[in-house]
Amino acid sequence: MNRREFNFALAAATGGLIAHTDAWGHAPQFRINGARLNQHLKALSEFGKNPQGGVSRVAYSEADRQGREYVLGLMRDAHLEVSIDAAGNLIGRREAANNDDRLLPILFGSHIDSVPEGGNYDGDVGSLGAIEVAQTLAEHRVTLRHPIEVIIFQNEEGGLIGSEAVIGALTGKELELVNKSGKTVREGIRFLGGDVAKLPSVRREPGSIAAYLELHIEQGGTLEAERVDIGVVEGIVGINWWDVTIEGFANHAGTTAMNNRQDALLAAAKFIEAVNRVVTGVPGRQVGTVGRIQALPGAPNVIPGKVICSLELRDLDAAKIQMLYQKIRAEADQIAKSSRVTFDFKELNANIPAPTDQRLRALIDQSAKDLGLSTRLLPSGAGHDAQDMARIGPVGMIFIPSIGGISHSPREFSRPQDIENGTNVLLQTVMRVDQAGL
Ligand code: HGY
Ligand code: MN
Ligand code: MN
Repeated sequence: MNRREFNFALAAATGGLIAHTDAWGHAPQFRINGARLNQHLKALSEFGKNPQGGVSRVAYSEADRQGREYVLGLMRDAHLEVSIDAAGNLIGRREAANNDDRLLPILFGSHIDSVPEGGNYDGDVGSLGAIEVAQTLAEHRVTLRHPIEVIIFQNEEGGLIGSEAVIGALTGKELELVNKSGKTVREGIRFLGGDVAKLPSVRREPGSIAAYLELHIEQGGTLEAERVDIGVVEGIVGINWWDVTIEGFANHAGTTAMNNRQDALLAAAKFIEAVNRVVTGVPGRQVGTVGRIQALPGAPNVIPGKVICSLELRDLDAAKIQMLYQKIRAEADQIAKSSRVTFDFKELNANIPAPTDQRLRALIDQSAKDLGLSTRLLPSGAGHDAQDMARIGPVGMIFIPSIGGISHSPREFSRPQDIENGTNVLLQTVMRVDQAGL
């Protein structure tokens, strides 16, 4: 029996083709259906569509729920066995060829929730790309040696909530966080069909997955500027969030002399400037942002007595984030004295930085090159569920160009060809992990 006959015999015995390598050890060069994938992306963009051409599909909103229904339908069409876990994540599983318990599942996916006034590509490309990979395998009647699971994490934008639940890191404090939907995470989980009481059931232990792979838009301008097709991600930044409350004294804006005020908003302005000065005052790629602010009571004729704002710090090194935070606290102490206000910092959420797996980087790079695509290694300044998944197994991330480096904006855009390319790289990488292991 030659190799071809052997494979046919195997296919007959198992009811489908088994993925096999060619004489050079390469995975078969199946291709995903780029036109279908881009049409699915267009259809998903209808859920939460906003007048600027992007989406506001904030987690736990009605648009989020409807978008998820659409995605569940695509998963079923791709012959995946679908379920919603107790945390509200969508999971589509396909069993392995021989049900060999020793072979752990290969996971791949992303998220479909968006920031308020976000774009149509962040999370959506990786989510629908993952389903397209599963569909392509099904169409070619390829059954892999490992089980596969397409996973669409809930509320990525609210602090990687779905993946935190999967690694058992979701805290009671986080369950009470409220996002732009107006719901707490606890309420949101129920809204999506999960069950907070059963959260421990979704927890996966370290060593329980073969790999987690995520395709995503770069959200920066490096790939486009350098005309590189595929980014191989070397690591994902840590992200820390705090709520900062500044208390002064609300008083009459007409009768209180300028030298007799305890203006919390003026102190906040100094604080925002100090954050920028501290973060830019040391070498490196760290970033710091005050992205949300509320002044109370919020009237033109009342000196603001209270301000609540956010503080976000990101870097690939967790120790550096802490160092910057301590410097910012010291600046806040100074402002408190000179402005006669108080500062209170409440930590909301911390996502630790995560390097990707070296072996997966090599497989992604080789898969891309075999498809005739150029690659480069680059860090991710954006957060991803992959950084949580790195706590329980090897992770790899594939980036495609974002035009103009714009993201978290209705003007976010990635070219259909790049989306197709990235998804073909994901397909090839999944097949290589399946065949060679890590
Ligand atoms: O905010 C982030 O970095 C990500 O897009 N969730
Ligand atoms: Mn995002
Ligand atoms: Mn994202």
